Amino acid sequence: MSDDVEFEGEIEARLSEQEYFRPPAKFVGQANVSDPAIHDRFGDEWPHGFEEYAELLDWESRWDETLDASNPPFYEWFVGGELNACYNCVDRHLDERKNQVALLWEGEGGDRSHLTYQDLYREVNRMAAALRTMGVEEDDVVTLHLPMVPALPITMLACARIGAPHSEVFAGFSASALAQRIDDADSDVVVTIDGYYRRGELLNHKQKADQAVEEADTDVDTVLVWERHEGDLHDDVDVVEDRDVLVTDLKADHDRARVDPVTRNAEDPLFLMYTSGTTGQPKGCQHRTGGYLSYVTGTSKYVLDIKPEDTYWCAADIGWITGHSYIVYGPLALGTTSVMYEGAPDHPHKGRIWEIAEKYDVDIFHTSPTAVRMFMKWGPEYPEEYDFDFRHMTTVGEPIQPEAWLWYYKYIGGEDAVIVDTWWQTETGGHLITNLPALDDMKPGSAGKPCPGIQPAIYDDNGNPVEAASGKAGNLVIEKPWPGMLQTVYGDDERFVDEYWRDFSDTNSDDMADWVYKAGDGAVHERDGYFRILGRLDDVMNVAGHRLGTMELESAVAEVEEVAEAAVAAREDAEKGEVPDVYVVLREGIEPSEAVRNGIVRAVEEEIGKFARPANVVFVDDLPKTRSGKIMRRLLEDISNDQDLGDTTTLRDPSVPEQIRDLVHGD
Ligand code: WT7
Repeated sequence: MSDDVEFEGEIEARLSEQEYFRPPAKFVGQANVSDPAIHDRFGDEWPHGFEEYAELLDWESRWDETLDASNPPFYEWFVGGELNACYNCVDRHLDERKNQVALLWEGEGGDRSHLTYQDLYREVNRMAAALRTMGVEEDDVVTLHLPMVPALPITMLACARIGAPHSEVFAGFSASALAQRIDDADSDVVVTIDGYYRRGELLNHKQKADQAVEEADTDVDTVLVWERHEGDLHDDVDVVEDRDVLVTDLKADHDRARVDPVTRNAEDPLFLMYTSGTTGQPKGCQHRTGGYLSYVTGTSKYVLDIKPEDTYWCAADIGWITGHSYIVYGPLALGTTSVMYEGAPDHPHKGRIWEIAEKYDVDIFHTSPTAVRMFMKWGPEYPEEYDFDFRHMTTVGEPIQPEAWLWYYKYIGGEDAVIVDTWWQTETGGHLITNLPALDDMKPGSAGKPCPGIQPAIYDDNGNPVEAASGKAGNLVIEKPWPGMLQTVYGDDERFVDEYWRDFSDTNSDDMADWVYKAGDGAVHERDGYFRILGRLDDVMNVAGHRLGTMELESAVAEVEEVAEAAVAAREDAEKGEVPDVYVVLREGIEPSEAVRNGIVRAVEEEIGKFARPANVVFVDDLPKTRSGKIMRRLLEDISNDQDLGDTTTLRDPSVPEQIRDLVHGD
């Protein structure tokens, strides 16, 4: 872990106490869980409580063993069980609700497509047949680069149907980022779309896949291309002969196709989701079929309170884990109706979200603190114009400031909806810390209590547990495994152990009790038993709820010819949570200029994506370094945030931070 973390588990976090809000009685009366015995049930019979989640699914053969912990941290869940995730999300609903809408998709410009479970069944079968025709076999990794259109869940489910793990790369990622993920997964089939709408413009999205295939070392032999307007290919898109195939054509060939869902072992991988870590290389978090699907279905039911008759809207992007778990797999496994929206929340007007909520009579709404801060900035007049009535609201991805929480509660929830603040990660598959909404009072700014069967704790930097509920800050860890956890980092078991386990575990032990999962976050276990999340302790920042590694940004900047050295620091931002500031030393003889600055911004956009664009580029003569030459990013962060500089005497040149500070803030 980074050597400049100063928590030590000693400092009492000085955070203002918040008042509690009771869940409304009308919510409690109808909640999926209102009996507090659930926590004891999961705790006393651990790990067997998790069977309650697995039993929400249809299994082809039941598991023999709930947890095999003989080889930590390579845990196996529901061992011997067999199931198919697509079958559980689609086929099994046909008897009871084939004419119920599964997906209410709304295009940015107002076009729409409403797919019933029967429609979804047909579409998924056609796509599964199409993938098979293109040579995709069980266990081949298929890379998806799809935006928020029905093609995305259809393709994911089609992959699951034939047992091919999908690896969806968020559509906002650049061609280079896509190429990197194609190579890491050694994936030779890519699925993309010609275009999609962003603020009224039909983007040429496919060009990113074209460039990625060119850049990748892997020999991609097939690119499947969906069309945003079926049968009407984007004018600017090129079709590469012998490699590209239009999904529209394939679907026509397989119109009435039926593909039997393949039987998967519970431990067979369902998908990969890449996420940023502390090195330049993103990690492919590998999620298993049985444990993952059980966990997201269980938490969708108990935490999100989803019922089949609800209209549920998670306004995240399926390109991140939130959308995988809580737009696609959990909600569809429960047979509910989900809203999916393609576009920007302020296009064509700032009331767009509430207009959709009113139109579909949404019951459950799910968004990020960044979005809440943005809605707050726009003002209450937008939501006030529309008639909608949420019973349940979720936030995810970042800490929510009490001020934003209170605004969300009042203006969006009308003071009679519950808010659940869910803490979890790409790696954890599903929620780990959050209140079960009917059981515990809400407290603005705190994620809440552990989910059933989950055992979080706070450790100091020396690996010693900090007394529970002592109000002290430290490293957030999870002491026991859970079914939604990642299986490994794709193709790199060693990195899996190094990144998540080594710091707080006895890695020579084969006793599960000696293995502790490091989340990478700082947190406080408050005296009332609630957990308050403080943010990342490693070189990972959180920009508008999206995780970004400083190393990835730094390597993108270092590619720029004029740059000798670069360091990235997270600056707090009222709207986005954090934004990247880039500190750059130029090569000998190069003068700072707008052109160099633009080149740096462009490099980040090209290597990662526009969402990672630096907020500031600061040209400096030198970076603050220790005597051994390690860059002290913490000091840059203090400068970016205009904080006191602490001890700089151990630096090679102690005057450097002051010089940079003068440059940024003036004398
Ligand atoms: C990191 C994980 C899990 C889906 C979205 C992000 C931060 C997440 C909360 C929360 C405070 C949160 C943590 C975590 N985070 N949820 N409710 N309160 N911080 O997934 O990209 O894997 O990022 O997001 O820092 O480690 P991710």
